Amino acid sequence: MKALVVGGAGYIGSVVTRLLLAQGHDVTVLDDCSTGHADSVPTGVPFHQIDITAAGTVLAADRYDAVLHFAAKSLVGESVARPAPYWHTNVGGTRALLDAITEHHVPTLVFSSTAATYGEPDTIPITETAPTRPGNTYGATKLAVDMMITNQTTASPLAAVSLRYFNVAGAALGAGERHTTETHLIPNALRAITDTGSSGPMTIYGTDWPTPDGTPIRDYVHVLDLAHAHVQALTAAQPGHHLIANLGSGDGYSVHQVLTTIETVTGQRVPTTTGPRRAGDPARLVASNTLAQEKLGWTPQLTLTHMIEDAWAFHTDGRTIR
Ligand code: UFG
Repeated sequence: MKALVVGGAGYIGSVVTRLLLAQGHDVTVLDDCSTGHADSVPTGVPFHQIDITAAGTVLAADRYDAVLHFAAKSLVGESVARPAPYWHTNVGGTRALLDAITEHHVPTLVFSSTAATYGEPDTIPITETAPTRPGNTYGATKLAVDMMITNQTTASPLAAVSLRYFNVAGAALGAGERHTTETHLIPNALRAITDTGSSGPMTIYGTDWPTPDGTPIRDYVHVLDLAHAHVQALTAAQPGHHLIANLGSGDGYSVHQVLTTIETVTGQRVPTTTGPRRAGDPARLVASNTLAQEKLGWTPQLTLTHMIEDAWAFHTDGRTIR
């Protein structure tokens, strides 16, 4: 299959690019490197360092079987403080990409959606029929794109799959998290262990949540399991249909439980301090992954311990275990 990976120089896009290559697919990467890294694109892979709105020039030059779309602004807090760039890039950029996909008759699209489209859930686990009430601009823009894709598949033979990621972690195939602005729990905790002088202790955002140990519960999924779901989505996609599926493990871990697992894996104490709740954080997000099992044949294989082992190896010496 010939695939264009839009956002292929970022964390998840670069792991998916490597998995597609390992499985013998022909991959081209498009990324403006606003947050991604050019050196995350494997040597020999055709790479266009251009804006998503120029994707039509790439799609015009060759016949592609699929586009996998990871490019987005994704900092939840920033999206609330500065919404306009999120609407421009995430929604406007994807509109331009969809127009190019239509014009050049690309049959299949796989899109990176998010659990942030649901907001605070009424019930756990969260199924794909749960109400979508995003609590921040980031989630709202991803939901808008999901709606845009649904409309597109109604009006055209496009086969589309939106994958709603829960908390992605770990590293694989030589790639891992390299965010300049890092907000995520696991990399922040690892950094607090190794950069004691510069970064100081990691802040736990509230210990007064309505959960058994007072810290929020999340559903962590390994980036390699996630990458496999994308490959399976390429074959599961049906012309004229938009499948929306959650990608999570179905298990929830509190912040305290994650930190304890990090201390077990690394053999080191995570320096922490307790701060106030972070605005927009829900208490508990756990996926139902039944639909992904049924429609994609996807079952996650790797545990939270694997994610932390792999993130730790990548953090300490840029190595990946898997
Ligand atoms: N946390 C801390 N301290 C930190 C970082 C995180 O206590 O330094 C806590 C958060 O409060 C939260 C948990 O750890 O309870 C996980 O936080 P992350 O920032 O790692 O992940 P989120 O659950 O906030 O965000 C993830 C994705 C987003 C997506 C969101 C859906 O990274 O892209 O899930 O709600 F929008």
